[in-house]
Amino acid sequence: MKKFLAVLLATMMTVALCACGSGKEQLVMATNAEFPPYEYHEGDAIVGIDVEIAQAIADELGMELVIEDMAFDSIIMAVSTGKADMGVAGLTISEDRLESVNFSTPYTTAAQVIIVKEGSDITGPDDLVGKTVGVQLGTTGDIYAGDIEGATVERYNKGYEAVQALLQGKVDAVMIDSQPANVFVEQNEGIYVIDEAFTYEEYAIAVAKDNTELLEKINDAIAKLEESGELQAIIDKYIAAE
Ligand code: ARG
Repeated sequence: MKKFLAVLLATMMTVALCACGSGKEQLVMATNAEFPPYEYHEGDAIVGIDVEIAQAIADELGMELVIEDMAFDSIIMAVSTGKADMGVAGLTISEDRLESVNFSTPYTTAAQVIIVKEGSDITGPDDLVGKTVGVQLGTTGDIYAGDIEGATVERYNKGYEAVQALLQGKVDAVMIDSQPANVFVEQNEGIYVIDEAFTYEEYAIAVAKDNTELLEKINDAIAKLEESGELQAIIDKYIAAE
């Protein structure tokens, strides 16, 4: 009996110790690191605004941040099924998504914009009728482009693939969030962002419907980061003031 207890104790201690390197409870973030400046690859690392915000929240909660990089259209499912604790991926709050997950208080605002090639006759969303529009699969850009009657939507796994298709003349325009659009345009010659944002969106963190405890903690952490100015400092580090 004594031996059994000793083994049991040893097992319990190991379980408590090896859950993770730091000994802290893990906070698993589902993302799609194809979305600069919010989340993108830099060498072997995944960096960006969302990563730093998530890290600050994890620090606030005394947890260890673990990043799970996946296809964008898998994120909501990963969160709702508990595979990940939270989705942090420049996720726009939408009615549709609210049916499967809860969202935190928004941490920033965004817009959809259109990228075209120099010399294009497209000057706004109305000109997309009869045109082919590249989008990242499952994004709000995908949904908006799909709503334009007479426009053909080409879906890509990565936003950057849609931009490459534009450069190669395979699509006439790309619909994507404004900040990634700025980054992609900066990295490539011959394309520009049309000066007309036509949606207003809010980015927030997705949490499983039944995990209201974590949602509250995340909201408290966001409020603190907002108050201290850390949230704005993270954003300013990646986005130059216009
Ligand atoms: N804001 C858009 C949406 O929620 C696009 C987000 C894309 N994010 C990403 N990490 N690829 O649908």
